[in-house]
Amino acid sequence: MCGIIGITSEKPVLSNIISSLKKLEYRGYDSAGIATFSDNFIDEVKCEGRVAKLEKICSKKSLKGIVGIGHVRWATHGIPNETNAHPHSSENVSVVHNGIIENSTILKKVLEKKGYKFKSQTDTEVITVLLTENLKKHKLLIAVQKTLEKLHGSYALAILFKNNQDLIVGARRGSPLAVGYGHHENFLGSDSYALKSMTNKISYLDDGDICMVKKDQVEFYNSKGKKINKKILTLSENIDDYEKGDFQTFMQKEIFEQPSTAKSCINEYVDNLRDEINIYNFPWELKSIESIILIGCGTAYHACMMAKYWLEELTSINVTIDIASEFRYKKNKFNKNNLYIFISQSGETADTFAALELCKKNKMKTLSIVNAVESSIARNSDFILPIHCGSEIGVASTKAFIGQMLVVYILALKISYLRKDISKKDYELKIKTLKKLPNLLKNTLNVESEIEEIASVFANAKGSMFLGRGFAYPIAMEGALKLKELCYVHAEGYPAGEMKHGPLALIEDGIPVVVLAPRDKYYEKTLSNMQEVISRGAKVLLISNKSKDEISSENVWKKIDVEKTSDELLPFLLTLPLQMLALHAAKNKGYDIDKPRNLAKSVTVE
Ligand code: AGP
Repeated sequence: MCGIIGITSEKPVLSNIISSLKKLEYRGYDSAGIATFSDNFIDEVKCEGRVAKLEKICSKKSLKGIVGIGHVRWATHGIPNETNAHPHSSENVSVVHNGIIENSTILKKVLEKKGYKFKSQTDTEVITVLLTENLKKHKLLIAVQKTLEKLHGSYALAILFKNNQDLIVGARRGSPLAVGYGHHENFLGSDSYALKSMTNKISYLDDGDICMVKKDQVEFYNSKGKKINKKILTLSENIDDYEKGDFQTFMQKEIFEQPSTAKSCINEYVDNLRDEINIYNFPWELKSIESIILIGCGTAYHACMMAKYWLEELTSINVTIDIASEFRYKKNKFNKNNLYIFISQSGETADTFAALELCKKNKMKTLSIVNAVESSIARNSDFILPIHCGSEIGVASTKAFIGQMLVVYILALKISYLRKDISKKDYELKIKTLKKLPNLLKNTLNVESEIEEIASVFANAKGSMFLGRGFAYPIAMEGALKLKELCYVHAEGYPAGEMKHGPLALIEDGIPVVVLAPRDKYYEKTLSNMQEVISRGAKVLLISNKSKDEISSENVWKKIDVEKTSDELLPFLLTLPLQMLALHAAKNKGYDIDKPRNLAKSVTVE
């Protein structure tokens, strides 16, 4: 997933393109590039690596163009290098692309037979060459349509034309694209985050849409070439703080924001005076819902796993969970009394979005739990529940995970009460306990120094296991994912009771193992599983919660206690030490914590 930007203006666009690309860098940081016009020809500058490097190269050039496009890349086709960096230009057109052209190899062969030469290994260059070919035979808009018709796969495009130097053409299928409106300038970008500093008036393209952007005019066409109008939305004014403040990284800042983001999320859904949950205008009769199916990817999928435990614990509804990339291609049994819940921080993850589209096509009830309320998943769902945690910049998700878990827990509580699966007394007691969570999160952050002391052991480990039972199992999965993402250590989250059925063979002297053993109904069993790995030489970091009676922790290497709360809410507190462990282990290795290798914040390709 890459980030694209385009600006048409009456003044030079270079600096705005560079600052927008910096904002888009969470989408990909393998290479960067821009194209504009100089002396009547397409002037393309690109390099491997970060936007800062591109900025330096551009500062030595006089790029005075008033129309330009830019790109940050997450490599899918072709290694990260300058040649494969976007834009991909011919003499007449220049293209930046976010997505994957699945039939690029076939199209390349056809065009090579026509004598075209390709400079890069990318799928994108096929678009440049095909467009160049079609422009010889057709007017601009027809040439664009003819080109798009040939493409299989996903794309968000911004295109410059040598013979129309006041214009940028945009097109979308599958990957997000938005137009921003300014004063004698207009913009094109992958998301509102990139456009927010230049305008608060935007329109989103839908699949099949094409837009023609000039500094004083924007036209939209649907896939049949018919002119269409697009709604102009005003972006919410919540100017999220894109600065790290006193923190070294966005991830650390976002970890320490969790007590306040949890509070703002709870305040949105829980009545402060009465112990009551307010989910307004829920469009469905809850009693009619027979099954809930939760769908997500990565960390969002771990929030789906948590939701399953809570919904099964609190309600009599049948609950299943699916990883989006599997759900969209398997044989699903759609039933009108099913409720499909999609969890996504960015709201742009291609597999989750496609799963949503599939459910909509089958006329299913769709609810999404998102952070980006203007995203494709949010805009295309019947009902959305925002997680209210502000922009998350660090690629490794932290505060969004806590926000996703909060919203699914609050939804589970509401459903169980409305379906009379729990008593009013229990319902109100659980809400009382929930209101105390932000403070408990705050206190639990104090374990950071203990975590920092031991992080190097995980940083230098050849592998690691994260074990938990019941409510702690999804958190063990999340802890392992964080260490993988940030510290590139092969780590696995596993149900503690499952170890003796194979993974125990991985345990040898000194291998660091995290055991999550909260004082809940799984406590005793988890401790005996812990002794299994200790007896094979594991170095166990035991994470439990404070309690008056001492924990039996013979041969435990390190023990850390989080605050005390109800069994159902312990997963929130157990998550924080694991986020910090991965952060400090990566710090210990000197890795880029906010932009880990090979990853990006929102995965807009499948
Ligand atoms: C989590 O740290 C990762 N960034 C990744 O697993 C992420 O959760 C996944 O790509 C889903 O993203 P989404 O929540 O934006 O849909």
